[in-house]
Amino acid sequence: MIDVHKLTKQYAGRTAVDGISFKVEPGEIVGFLGPNGAGKTTTMRILSGFMPATSGSAYVAGFDVFRDSLKVRSAVGYMPEMAPLYVDMKVKEYLRFRAELKGLSGRVMRHRVGEVMELCGITDVRRRLIDNLSKGYRQRVALADALVHDPKLLILDEPTNGLDPVQIRQVRELLRELRSRHTVLLSTHILHEVEQACDRVVMLHRGSILANDTPKNLSAQLKTSSLVRVELESTDREVVAKLEKIAGVRKCNEEASNGEPWRYLVLRVEPGFEVREEVQLLASSAGWRLRELHRELPSLEDVFVELASAAETIRGGLS
Ligand SMILES: Nc1ncnc2c1ncn2[C@@H]1O[C@H](COP(=O)(O)OP(=O)(O)OP(=O)(O)O)[C@@H](O)[C@H]1O
Ligand SMILES: [Mg+2]
Repeated sequence: MIDVHKLTKQYAGRTAVDGISFKVEPGEIVGFLGPNGAGKTTTMRILSGFMPATSGSAYVAGFDVFRDSLKVRSAVGYMPEMAPLYVDMKVKEYLRFRAELKGLSGRVMRHRVGEVMELCGITDVRRRLIDNLSKGYRQRVALADALVHDPKLLILDEPTNGLDPVQIRQVRELLRELRSRHTVLLSTHILHEVEQACDRVVMLHRGSILANDTPKNLSAQLKTSSLVRVELESTDREVVAKLEKIAGVRKCNEEASNGEPWRYLVLRVEPGFEVREEVQLLASSAGWRLRELHRELPSLEDVFVELASAAETIRGGLS
């Protein structure tokens, strides 16, 4: 659905996007992740056919974004960072106006506007002025606008920016509903969000791609250690020492049990080691009752911090 090759964008000599390449397959929800100024918006505007690149190539739904920008625009529903809504229009009136601009007309147009208002939960506010809507509702109107021509690909630039947690959850649920019909590329700097909503994450930093993988793989590859939580019942005084003998266990800490028979232990595990089976074997041979054995992967935030600092080190070494 998206095929980007060595895409570069310079603004007045300043490189905002620096030779990035990536693909998005049909039906995927891919998260563009990166701090302020990473190049997310720049890339998304190029992919939506709204801005030329300096060099490289980009295809969207089989069309070249540079040569066929009109076809690209009809295949893409783009929700910009700050949606330029016409605030003096009413919701339904605005969506009909936008749908007509995108080439819909007559009954088909009216039907489709009704459909997207329903989908985005704005049917109740259809007669309200956009100016009088809350931020969350305006975002929904912008999303309905992006969806109105039933595009194959949705490009959403920080769709949850400025929303409260309840609204964020609603947008996330909406994305899940959309996935059967649309491919989605969304940007955010909220790591937790891509962890929940995306099949794959492309991490951008200073115009370059730091990583491109599933949230789970990214966490698993991290060089920092992971944690395994163990809950067991035993009067064995050697529990900690025995657990620390397992290959890959760097440290075992026992938490105060407050007189309960259950003991809580936290294992810090070297990267690349999977110790849960060993723990289970040890427990059964030592006669401990095991009731919890849980591995906690590091968060995407940890991944990002580690990759970004490694990139900075390389950059520092080169200059
Ligand atoms: N119109 C412009 N003219 C000059 N420089 C620009 C322009 N737009 C963006 N830039 C610069 O390009 C770089 C990338 O900006 P971009 O908006 O793509 O980042 P972003 O990842 O979307 O950031 P944010 O999270 O703040 O939205 C930044 O250094 C920014 O200052
Ligand atoms: Mg941006």
